[in-house]
Amino acid sequence: MELRDPAQVHVTVFRDEVRDALPAREGGLLVDLTLGLGGHSEALLARGPESLRVIGFDRDPEALARASARLSGFGDRFEAHESPFSQFARYLDGRKVDGICADLGVSSLQLDDPARGMSFRGEGPLDMRMGRDTDETAWSLVRRLRENELADVIYQYGDERASRPIARTIKRFVTEGRMDSTRDLADAVYSVLGRPRPMKLDPATRTFQALRIAVNDELGEIERMLAATAEALKPGGVLAVIAFHSLEDRIVKHFLRGEGRFKVVTKKPLEPSDAACRENPRARSAKLRIARRVDDAAFDGALDDDEDAALDDDRDDGASP
Ligand SMILES: C[S@@+](CC[C@H](N)C(=O)[O-])C[C@H]1O[C@@H](n2cnc3c(N)ncnc32)[C@H](O)[C@@H]1O
Repeated sequence: MELRDPAQVHVTVFRDEVRDALPAREGGLLVDLTLGLGGHSEALLARGPESLRVIGFDRDPEALARASARLSGFGDRFEAHESPFSQFARYLDGRKVDGICADLGVSSLQLDDPARGMSFRGEGPLDMRMGRDTDETAWSLVRRLRENELADVIYQYGDERASRPIARTIKRFVTEGRMDSTRDLADAVYSVLGRPRPMKLDPATRTFQALRIAVNDELGEIERMLAATAEALKPGGVLAVIAFHSLEDRIVKHFLRGEGRFKVVTKKPLEPSDAACRENPRARSAKLRIARRVDDAAFDGALDDDEDAALDDDRDDGASP
């Protein structure tokens, strides 16, 4: 495996904004729930102070290895765990932390590697798992689900209007013994929606996104992870979450609305600048929400009117892959 400079492989979205949002306290402890290639952790550790430590998580062992190599210069100020982020609190042994960041979704490294089977570009196995914490692959999912369940997944997680004929065709391909690779899955979608056309969104995009979200239980993971953050943060601690599509962002927004122990800092979610989008086109749909854990004594269980209005105001745009 050729190891390229991580900073060249993946451009960290909202690197400076997340770094500046999380507290920089002497002896502070921060958590990076989505290490990826370690971009956010590196920014936090480099900023300091020297006594600040970061605990990082990723369910993908390859990402973990790369991030750990990149951050090895920080010695015991950094530790990493291979785990789905819904389980992060187990590794804190009751310690409370000053800040938590999560940069949701998959990395370019995962999307661009045909062996992971997440993309219709290039042929790969029908896998789509981010890590080895689940046995279910896209191959087994399309066999296990009934046609109507598969259609529901494709509709709900892919916002795909042709979900029913696509599910029917996938099941037919399974029966005919030709549903083993990403190419087979893409062909099933193309046989319903037509072949890809230049400059247009590939018709297979939504179906691939939907199956990947289902295989990795991405939305359930986010809900369980968010629920654990209020307990893990010290009063005054900061939560920063970057979402890449409306399904993710909606969960974050509703969590912050319902969980009265957070005070929202970003009245509107931050969006990347034009320059950041030029540098990294995948940043286009990113939204950053920042919230502060309030003191338990100050917690009255309700958002102030301003906050509620701001959260209400954000329109949920359609799911983008
Ligand atoms: C967008 S990348 C993070 C990039 C990172 N911030 C950087 O600057 O390099 C998202 C990472 O989160 C990981 N991830 C996504 N969902 C996860 C989950 N539920 N549990 C643990 N890791 C997860 C993915 O494996 C991926 O490596």
